[in-house]
Amino acid sequence: MTALTAELEPLYQAAKAAAAQAYAPYSHFPVGVAVRALDGSIFTGCNVENASYGATVCAERNAIAAGVVAGKRQFDALMVYTPQQQLTPPCGLCRQVIAEFFLPETIIYSSNHQAQLQGWTLQQLLPDAFTPLYLANSTKVPTE
Ligand code: THU
Repeated sequence: MTALTAELEPLYQAAKAAAAQAYAPYSHFPVGVAVRALDGSIFTGCNVENASYGATVCAERNAIAAGVVAGKRQFDALMVYTPQQQLTPPCGLCRQVIAEFFLPETIIYSSNHQAQLQGWTLQQLLPDAFTPLYLANSTKVPTE
């Protein structure tokens, strides 16, 4: 468990406010996420579910997309908030999207309604991630 520091407080409050906007009529599992761009600006997202369940988008990806729309390409903090006891890490799909825009050393925080926190490095959550570097180093293999 990690303490809610003054540095993390704005992210915590932003993630909590985002969770209140979650559209989760199927799972009843609201999630809010706040991400911080390198200039300190904070972007938020909530989960947006769909009657066609597979069309659901997680809070993490919506928060990152909000930052990308604003022109951000690198982030240095991420806070998940769920209004329940259990501290929940990002799902596998979101870990891949986080790896696109965050350094492996970044601490990914999860928080709950009691302001309890747990942190993992992105490296811990997604070791040996497939990143844009692999595409940059690719050599074209001719096809017939
Ligand atoms: N969910 C997220 O928003 N983030 C995660 O990392 C885990 C899952 C959402 C998706 C769905 O709306 C609900 O939580 C239950 O899976």
